[in-house]
Amino acid sequence: MLIFGNWKSNITKNEAKIWLEKYSNINLDPSLKVVIFPPYTLLDFVSSYVKDNNIAINVGAQDISAFNKGAFTGEVSGDLIREFADYVLIGHIERRKLIGEDKELINEKIKRARECGLKVIFCASNLEEVAGIDISDLIIAFEPISAVGTSNPADVEMVKHFLNELSDKSVKIIYGGSINSENVKKYTELENMSGVLVGSGSLNPQAFMDIIKNAV
Ligand code: PGA
Repeated sequence: MLIFGNWKSNITKNEAKIWLEKYSNINLDPSLKVVIFPPYTLLDFVSSYVKDNNIAINVGAQDISAFNKGAFTGEVSGDLIREFADYVLIGHIERRKLIGEDKELINEKIKRARECGLKVIFCASNLEEVAGIDISDLIIAFEPISAVGTSNPADVEMVKHFLNELSDKSVKIIYGGSINSENVKKYTELENMSGVLVGSGSLNPQAFMDIIKNAV
């Protein structure tokens, strides 16, 4: 089961230290893979901290540049991310909506991530967003717009429909949107569901730990 925590544009270095300290002696069920996605500014700190303290948590980036390294002010290219992270989120609904990321740009980002060996979590809020994307080696995060950041998680039937309709059955699918410790099991117990992507529920270390515990 994949349990992913997306910190978005939250958490200072001090707060990250306090968060990680809570995981120092955690014994995770071996069937779980936990990945947190801190802001770029914390990738170095968080990846060093989990390594140095033997914490069984992996690290991912929240985005990747569509360009290779070079003269691209403000961009963070895949090989810079790869030093610290194994995973990357691409196509998150907040980037599509607020920044205007389109399919062409998202496809470029997926290419860059593949070139440098980052595992992609491709976020889609409907099946149309998946069409035209080579998803063969991706993890798909199904995140309906109405469920992200709203405390209004998606109807389970809607999630089942997405799971059934996606033609490539070999691809791992996770659900994201208003996940908490009370509702997580409802999604992780669905057939062919591989995990969850948690936003606000991952900011508090105890709340995230409760989600992890209740997911299996
Ligand atoms: P949320 O965010 O859990 O706060 O709804 C989910 C996400 O953006 O991945």
